[in-house]
Amino acid sequence: MLRLRAPAKLNLDLRVAPPRPDGFHPLSSWFVTLALGDDLTFDRHPAPGIHFSCSDPSLAVDGRNLVVRAAGDLLDASGHTATGIAISLTKRVPTGGGLGGGSSDAASTLLGVSRLLSLDTPLAPLAERLGSDVPFFLVGGSALCTGRGEVIDPLPPPRPAAALLFFPDVRMPTPAVFKEFDRLRLGTALPARPDALDYRRTLTTLPAHDLLARLANDLEPAAFSLAPQLGELRTEIEQRLHRPVRMSGSGSTLFTLYDTVDEADAAIGGVAGGLPPGVRWLASPICPPA
Ligand code: C5P
Repeated sequence: MLRLRAPAKLNLDLRVAPPRPDGFHPLSSWFVTLALGDDLTFDRHPAPGIHFSCSDPSLAVDGRNLVVRAAGDLLDASGHTATGIAISLTKRVPTGGGLGGGSSDAASTLLGVSRLLSLDTPLAPLAERLGSDVPFFLVGGSALCTGRGEVIDPLPPPRPAAALLFFPDVRMPTPAVFKEFDRLRLGTALPARPDALDYRRTLTTLPAHDLLARLANDLEPAAFSLAPQLGELRTEIEQRLHRPVRMSGSGSTLFTLYDTVDEADAAIGGVAGGLPPGVRWLASPICPPA
C-alpha cells in the first residue's frame, strides 16, 4: 500500500486580471503548501476500475470527485483500462475554503497511481485538464503561479514559518466569486512574469510583519460582496490580533502569518474566545519539509 499526503495551499497573495476570451482569469499568485493536508492511500484491487472511499460522507465518491476523475484519466492515458485500483481519502482540508483541497487530492492521485503502477505517462497535461490549481500540487512548496494558475515557477519558501488559519462557517464557490469579480469590474493588468518573479523573490526574505503589509488578494472585495459576514470577520480578527489578515484564493479561509509556529500558537489565545460561533482556527507550518 502507498500513502501520500495531499497538502493544502495558501495564496499568500493573488493578483487577478479581467477574464480571457475562454472565461478564465489570468493570475499572478504566490502559492505555498501547508502542513495541513488530506491523506490518501493507494493499492491494487482485484476488480478493474477505481474503488474509492472517503471519510467525508458529504462528498461524492463517483466521477464527480476529482480523485476518481484523476485516477480514471491516468489509467486511460496509460492504457491501463483493465487495472483495478483502491483509493481511500481521509479528508481534513475544508471544502469551499480556498485551500485547494480537491485540487491537491487530484494531484496526489496522479502521483500515487503513477508510482503504484510504475507509469511514465506525463502528469502535467492531465493535471491542467483537471483544474487550474492541480499543476501546482504536482510540485508543491513555494511557487509563483501564472497563466490561469498552471504556469509554475518555484520560489524559495517565505521567511514566516507558520500561518494562523480561520475557517468561517461559509463555503465560497469559486465560479461565483469570479463572476462577482467581473460584475464589479475589478480586474487590473498584471506585471510581466519575470518582474512578478523578481518581486516575489524579494518578498521571500521578509519577516511576517513586513511581508503581511505587502500582500493582497484581488478576490477579497468580490467574496466579501457575496458574503459580507466574511469581511466583518476579517476586520474583527485584524483588530484582535493587531495585524493584517488576508483571504486565501476565492475564500472562505482567512489567515495571518507568524515567524514561528510558537508565535502562531501563542496568538490563538488573543482571539479565540471572542469569535462568532462556527469559526474554527488552526496554526499550521508553511512549506514543511517533505
Ligand atoms: O480551473 P478550475 O476548474 O479549478 O476553476 C474553477 C472555476 O474558477 C472556473 O470555472 C472559473 O469560473 C474560475 N477560474 C477563473 N480563472 C482562473 C481559475 C479559475 O475564472 N484562473
